[in-house]
Amino acid sequence: MREAVPDAPASCEEGICGSCELRVLDGTPDHRDTVLAAGERDRRDVIYPCVSRARSPILAVDL
Ligand code: FES
Repeated sequence: MREAVPDAPASCEEGICGSCELRVLDGTPDHRDTVLAAGERDRRDVIYPCVSRARSPILAVDL
């Protein structure tokens, strides 16, 4: 993602701060951050892309 969108917002790039948060439009995130609480790990509307990935073949986000 950094190559595709060099100016995408981010700070810690370790999944801690939440500054890279993007709204998910389609697809299923694989949350690998520590921003979301245990009870939020199934959320499909948000992703922290500095460390998280996609569980689905395509993940569309709102940049
Ligand atoms: S840059 Fe801090 S959580 Fe992604």
